Amino acid sequence: MDILTIDNYSVSYDGQRSAVDGVSLSVSRGEIVSIVGESGSGKSTLLHGMLGLLPKGAATRGRLALFGREISEMPAGERRALCGSRVSMIFQDTGRYMNPIARIGAQYDEFLRIHGMRDGAARRDLQREMLLKLHLTDPERVLRAYPFELSGGMRQRVGIAMAMSLKPELLLADEPTSALDVTVQAQVIRQMLELRESTGTAIVLVTHNIGVAAYLSDRIGVMQRGRLVELGDSQELIEHPKHPYTRGLLEAVVEIDDERLIANHG
Ligand SMILES: Nc1ncnc2c1ncn2[C@@H]1O[C@H](COP(=O)(O)OP(=O)(O)OP(=O)(O)O)[C@@H](O)[C@H]1O
Ligand SMILES: [Mg+2]
Repeated sequence: MDILTIDNYSVSYDGQRSAVDGVSLSVSRGEIVSIVGESGSGKSTLLHGMLGLLPKGAATRGRLALFGREISEMPAGERRALCGSRVSMIFQDTGRYMNPIARIGAQYDEFLRIHGMRDGAARRDLQREMLLKLHLTDPERVLRAYPFELSGGMRQRVGIAMAMSLKPELLLADEPTSALDVTVQAQVIRQMLELRESTGTAIVLVTHNIGVAAYLSDRIGVMQRGRLVELGDSQELIEHPKHPYTRGLLEAVVEIDDERLIANHG
């Protein structure tokens, strides 16, 4: 069974223009799919739709089913219970979703507790283990800190650690590493791959970085103006892009590389 089935799915915020326009995509267990495309092409809208997180006024058409259940027909309580346990979301700026006046450790602990971890010692061990995995080398300090006492990149890694803690079956990640420096970015990507290897987590990753997409994912989808204009095996799509827009994206990467080469050696 597919974990996620999207069939001819559209979203409109204003009842006129479609932010997502007739997208079809299925994600199976353990699969990693990256979504790339220019700013405003509907990537975040698609991801938010997957968790039923669209604002009230948004109108959707078509089908979007999680674990075989249509998301629009799921009671809010059931959807909330799914979030964090079977499905997790990493936002571009996870820090924004933290409580500014509670210590990181208290928030992390509460998150694990409401998702069913009853054993306090096990919760504490898991927090330390996950923070270390995300290269936060002094987990005690991080857990004692308030969100504002950490750098943006550290807060982001805490958010990623939390999202991965409960070994979700599906991890949705919206530009999770764009605020991180390159070495930390690589570490986060390794952790995502490890999570897939160890637990069979499927991942949908939105990224601007087509190089990251190619390295990490089984398939890549390319969005332009709300439409999924190309979807295919990563290697195949990079080597033989079919859609002119995909070719444009790849050429842009090559040009940036050329400029770097010239800057470094010229
Ligand atoms: N809450 C909202 N209310 C109204 N319009 C919205 C809302 N969120 C997004 N849009 C519009 O929907 C379209 C798609 O936006 P979306 O954020 O999904 O794009 P994106 O591909 O994630 O872009 P980026 O790469 O910049 O994050 C844009 O035209 C945007 O202005
Ligand atoms: Mg976005």
